[in-house]
Amino acid sequence: MKISPAIRTQSIREYYFSKKLREIAQFKSEGKDIINLGIGSPDGLPPHKVIEKMQQAAKNAEANRYQSYIGIKELREAWSLWYKKNYRVSLDTNKEILPLMGSKEGIMHISMAYLQKGDQALVPDPGYPAYTSVTRLTGADVIYYSLTEKNHWIPDLPRLEKENLSAVKMMWINYPHMPTGATIRLNDLEKIVCFAEKHKILLVHDNPYSFILNEQPLSVFQIEGAKEISLELQSLSKSHNMAGWRQGMLGGKKEYLQEVLKVKSQMDSGMYLPLQIGAIEALQHSNEWFESLNMEYQKRRNIIWNICKALELTYDAKSTGLFVWAKLPLKEEDKSWSDKQLYNKNVFITPGSLFGKNGRGYVRFSLCCPPTLLEKAQIQLLQS
Ligand SMILES: Cc1ncc(COP(=O)(O)O)c(C=O)c1O
Repeated sequence: MKISPAIRTQSIREYYFSKKLREIAQFKSEGKDIINLGIGSPDGLPPHKVIEKMQQAAKNAEANRYQSYIGIKELREAWSLWYKKNYRVSLDTNKEILPLMGSKEGIMHISMAYLQKGDQALVPDPGYPAYTSVTRLTGADVIYYSLTEKNHWIPDLPRLEKENLSAVKMMWINYPHMPTGATIRLNDLEKIVCFAEKHKILLVHDNPYSFILNEQPLSVFQIEGAKEISLELQSLSKSHNMAGWRQGMLGGKKEYLQEVLKVKSQMDSGMYLPLQIGAIEALQHSNEWFESLNMEYQKRRNIIWNICKALELTYDAKSTGLFVWAKLPLKEEDKSWSDKQLYNKNVFITPGSLFGKNGRGYVRFSLCCPPTLLEKAQIQLLQS
């Protein structure tokens, strides 16, 4: 007997990484030592005090009860102060901040709140695959907008203006951009906000890489009037090595957040209190944390750049974020190149086409691997 799944499941496939990680686990169980440079899951510890605070909070009986859907006030206050300190942006603690269990759940909640059949969402190509899957789950259509190396991986707005945008309800942007590591200048971000205003599009800026190897963190709310038309997602996953803690937030105007909360409050019953207490400590931590984190990532990036040079891959030394995005020598196909490294050299590197058709011919190396292991990967990749 077969019970047929909902039609919406036909619009999505199992996440590429979930399949690939299964394959890697299978190789490992067969005794093959695979070095995984695929996934952006930080391998370091969060700041020591964050763990301490979380542990202390776990001893409080209150911690085991259901928590508020909007997080404790102290957490929202900490996000608000953090915005002020890092972006010089004011967000109202009680109205404009919604703590989330990681920014990925926010992508789902925002889309569930604002998209439906007949709507369209503008999604970057290349870009984070969740924007596509979640849009499809809502029944809305994905309209890809091209990001290219030639255009510095920023949207070609004059070209987009020529399209029929009447059904477009939402636009996803993400700077520093994943997978390319491209940044955006404030005046280009401003042009996107104007574009969204003009076409009555909800602009969502997904911003988890602001502090990784990036000297100029930007918030969409630095642009005057942006709150009227924009939302912004933040995450502690990459900035504080807290991916497994699932700590993120959505910032924006009260009216938008209330709609998102209607969806979110159907799905969870609050965040474990010790994790909220730990997140507060992370947000209050001194910015010296980023200096040491980025020094470590710089060291790792240098090793990957050396691997790229030796393999004749090209990269942009000005790019930011948790990955190295590199172009394969002409005529190399990224998926077969990646499989070749996995099957012959025991190193997994993500093929660029996973992020969209404009990712063809590129690969993405993660910096979430200690230098000793990266050096081992270097030896394996370079041996003939
Ligand atoms: C662009 C982008 N957005 C969102 C996420 C999700 O991050 P979080 O751990 O906060 O859910 C990721 C994670 O890799 C990402 O690359």
